[in-house]
Amino acid sequence: MILTRSADGVRDRRASVTARDLFTRATVWTARHLPSEALAVLRERRPADDDPYLESHITIDQLAGRVRTLERQRWLYDTLFYKAFSTAGLGDYLEFGVFQGASLCAAYRAAFELYRQLSVDAEWGNLGGQIETGRVQWAAARFIGFDSFKGIPAIRGPDAERPFYVEGEWAASEEQAWAAVDSEGIDRAKVRLVGGFFEDSCTPETAERLGLSEVAVVHIDSDIYESARVALAFCTPYLRDGSVVIFDEWFQYHANPNYGEQRAFGEWRAAHPDWQVAELGREPVGRMAFVLTPPGA
Ligand SMILES: C[S@@+](CC[C@H](N)C(=O)[O-])C[C@H]1O[C@@H](n2cnc3c(N)ncnc32)[C@H](O)[C@@H]1O
Repeated sequence: MILTRSADGVRDRRASVTARDLFTRATVWTARHLPSEALAVLRERRPADDDPYLESHITIDQLAGRVRTLERQRWLYDTLFYKAFSTAGLGDYLEFGVFQGASLCAAYRAAFELYRQLSVDAEWGNLGGQIETGRVQWAAARFIGFDSFKGIPAIRGPDAERPFYVEGEWAASEEQAWAAVDSEGIDRAKVRLVGGFFEDSCTPETAERLGLSEVAVVHIDSDIYESARVALAFCTPYLRDGSVVIFDEWFQYHANPNYGEQRAFGEWRAAHPDWQVAELGREPVGRMAFVLTPPGA
């Protein structure tokens, strides 16, 4: 679509609409069909009437392409979470690395959808003798996010040999994460956010204060080895038969197992040789999920 300037503003030559009209049309369509991330992108780009960037670059097709990418990402995200919750059974969802809350909300959406469906099936008698109906599972699940809300800490340990991230990167405030929770219509009572660097916040006192007992799904999205190591150590007492661990940056550092999340999980496995680990799923863009079986289970 070619946009040209005319006396009364930016116009599409064929349809004779202003750039503003095109933008409004794309936004309305997106609001009706697509996720909040896509809308956020559109809003970020809201043009001034004389915006030369819009004039020369933005077309409905480009916007639609961006929207399709976001849609695909969201589908991948929700699918892996859905699979994780359907494997894991009872317990909390623990996320290490919340940033602006997108994946915490995605996990909530997937669990809600799954447990609602299980409740319906159970009511219709389709699940036979299953005791842990969706309702029971939903009641047991909280969505607990840990983050410094100041970004990534200084890179120490093995990752410092190959610095990929920088201190302070991915900083977002706790208010931003709560805003995402609210904008998705999520029940705040199901969510806990724990601020502070993991090294300070992931303590037995925190676990006690939260009343942690069983962890269904752990999502490690804190990018670096040291953070993943601390997160795994914190969760270990609460892992049980069927707990799922998802790593968001499994293939970071060119998938070299001596760095990042792969190194942290490699060390965890070496320290817990009696636990069995099975691959549950992976995504083309990088996440990897494992399901755990403790000794004797
Ligand atoms: C890639 S972002 C998380 C993205 C998020 N899951 C999402 O869905 O958008 C990584 C996050 O990990 C946090 N982080 C990394 N290491 C940390 C540590 N040791 N303590 C606290 N937060 C940490 C950063 O503050 C940042 O918000």
